[in-house]
Amino acid sequence: MKMDFPQGLRLMDKFNLDDYDHAYTTFRWEDAEEEIGWKPGERVNIAYSCIDRHVKNGRGNKIALIYDSGDRREFYTYRDMENATNRFANVLKDCGIQKGERIALFMPPCPEFYISLLGTVKAGAIAVPVHSKYMKDAVTGFLTDSEPSLAVTTGALRARIETGKIPSLRKVITTESRDADSDWRHLVSSAEEKPVTEWMDRREPMLLLYTSGSTGSPKGVVHTHAGTPQYYQTGRWVLDIKEGDVYWCTADPGWITGISYGVWAPFLNGATNVVCKEISGPQDCYKVLAKNAVTVWYTTPSLLRFLMNNDCNILKKYRLKSLRKILSVGEPLNPIVNRWSLKTFNLVVHDSWWMTETGAMIIANCSCFPVKPGSMGKPVPGVYAAIINEDGAELPPYEMGQLAIRSGWPAMMSGIWKVESKYREYFRITPWYLTGDLAYRDRQGYFWFQGRIDDVIKINSERVGPFEIESKLVEHPAVDEAGVIGKPHPMHGEIIKAFIVLNSNYTWSDRLCREICDSVRTKLADRLVPCEIEVCPGLPRTRSGKLMRRVLKSWEVGLPPHDFVTTE
Ligand code: WT7
Repeated sequence: MKMDFPQGLRLMDKFNLDDYDHAYTTFRWEDAEEEIGWKPGERVNIAYSCIDRHVKNGRGNKIALIYDSGDRREFYTYRDMENATNRFANVLKDCGIQKGERIALFMPPCPEFYISLLGTVKAGAIAVPVHSKYMKDAVTGFLTDSEPSLAVTTGALRARIETGKIPSLRKVITTESRDADSDWRHLVSSAEEKPVTEWMDRREPMLLLYTSGSTGSPKGVVHTHAGTPQYYQTGRWVLDIKEGDVYWCTADPGWITGISYGVWAPFLNGATNVVCKEISGPQDCYKVLAKNAVTVWYTTPSLLRFLMNNDCNILKKYRLKSLRKILSVGEPLNPIVNRWSLKTFNLVVHDSWWMTETGAMIIANCSCFPVKPGSMGKPVPGVYAAIINEDGAELPPYEMGQLAIRSGWPAMMSGIWKVESKYREYFRITPWYLTGDLAYRDRQGYFWFQGRIDDVIKINSERVGPFEIESKLVEHPAVDEAGVIGKPHPMHGEIIKAFIVLNSNYTWSDRLCREICDSVRTKLADRLVPCEIEVCPGLPRTRSGKLMRRVLKSWEVGLPPHDFVTTE
């Protein structure tokens, strides 16, 4: 019997990645473009590829999104999502939003967030997700920089958007608003349902997301529609999403993981995507896995450590028969976590490495090759990664140097919002993108993470910039100078430790300590409050006055300051 396979299936067979070396040498991103229906030279839209495409392909009745709020669950099919995102895009059109304008999304994960995000991108606008844990001053900072024309938020968070301070803002749409003109539900249900997909040039932006570095305020990383094939392909090869999978990414959509792998990758692959509120304990986590029969789970080493260190007996109550794949990202995955996972779930954890700036996975453990516990894996086909020295020369296996990626992969950021010079810094050494991470490669091509070159801190796998905390600390009148480092912590990866120089008019006390912490909490965010504050007579600085956080770190952990310290 002759079988006619649609074009897509043949290609999927070709690159099912059962042979990494073959795929690595022959795969071209055009192959992935073809699979998602992109034609050379044609304009595109990632939101269309995520949602509408599946409806056109007869999968409109498949569940796209399960929202699990703990007490109840809501289900949305791909057709529901198409309908709702069209309506939201029409709301934006009715408000006069044009291509390229920014729409701030300040809300916790909820169906309205996902609909607003996809609708925004469908309308050709740029989505600016802002993590819901940020307080008023920090939110004002992000919105002043990104200049959104419109913001979407919840009733509870509305008060943190200071409309008067953000001149660009023409409208705020709020879930649970009493005023029909700004109520999310009212606007969406009364908008037209007709499709409004704005067809975009591949290099046109669709996302602006803030992340921290070691200097300066958080920077806005810009991503474009061009990343689509990479979100799709890594979703297939690394997350291993197949028809019938129920997928859960634990990252909040205020961080890049919660977007690239909490929205793009699962929807591009037509998965059923589980989203839920913040999980507060192991019980919550196992409940979500069990109740939704999750099959593929993308999480962080921090969450896994948390589960490992909390009563495993809880697990016996839940049947996690469906779970077939666990993956992690964000910080080094401790080999002990992998041993625990194997014992507990009978599954090895597949680590993956990437950054907000890379947009999508760069190095990962694909299903087709064995995991070496402690290694991040190998570069995904289509991407070239290397270990380089200060001159950009590639180093041989086992030599430690900076991890660098040959620039030009599809999901690479297209800019740093308003700061061209910051963007150029990443590409100082042609042809490389410089990651700021130290690593080495072994003879089999696996990469091993060794640390950061700069002072970026990782707490619960989330990136924290010391500078933003230092800036808030010195706003307190008792603090003359502040230096912040990450102190190693067995569960959280790192915790925030601050060294401060006290103003001579103040005396140190528990009360003052609490007061300083409270000011960081109310101005910035609870998760950025130092766990420890140490008063010292002065801070170590270079001759040019640059704070030497590495020296602070050596005070703390007793190691000699790192080689990379500069003393200009
Ligand atoms: C930094 C990027 C976008 C992914 C989530 C984090 C560290 C990331 C790993 C890993 C060791 C890792 C690096 C990187 N990192 N993944 N598998 N093993 N370290 O993105 O917040 O932009 O942080 O996270 O230091 O540079 P991010």
